[in-house]
Amino acid sequence: MKIMIIQGPNLNMLGHRETNLYGTASLEQIHQALEHSAKQHEIKLEFFQSNLEGEIVDKIQECLGEVNGIVINPAAFGHTSIAIRDALSAVSLPTIEVHLTNIYAREQFRQSSMISAVCAGTITGLGPFGYQLALMALMQINQEIAAANKSQKQD
Ligand code: DQA
Repeated sequence: MKIMIIQGPNLNMLGHRETNLYGTASLEQIHQALEHSAKQHEIKLEFFQSNLEGEIVDKIQECLGEVNGIVINPAAFGHTSIAIRDALSAVSLPTIEVHLTNIYAREQFRQSSMISAVCAGTITGLGPFGYQLALMALMQINQEIAAANKSQKQD
């Protein structure tokens, strides 16, 4: 199983950026912890961070036929980007949206997500642990897909 981890704008600044909100862990540290968990479950991860909307759209498109799921923290683009939403819809892969902070407890403009409706689920407010939960969710979803495919073949 292969999972793509996509990180949106300014998440490369984690560890320096508003640590009272986002914590002190760097993106690299968050990815190392994810890699550790993924190895235990024989999951391959690919990591991608960009500050550019179009690059994120390109990366989502590249996922088609290559990965079994996507974990995405769209960061600020989550509140605005129809292009990222459309790309996720187009590839139609199991996707979990992650936000480190609880977007519903923050400013009004952060309290809606353009992409939630095209994701299998959203994890918001649990800090870096949210990415671990997203990985577990994708394992579960992929098991369910495999079981459904198997029973369809038997019919
Ligand atoms: C964020 C929340 C967004 O509102 C913000 O623009 C981010 C990070 C989070 O992980 O909490 O950059 O996605």
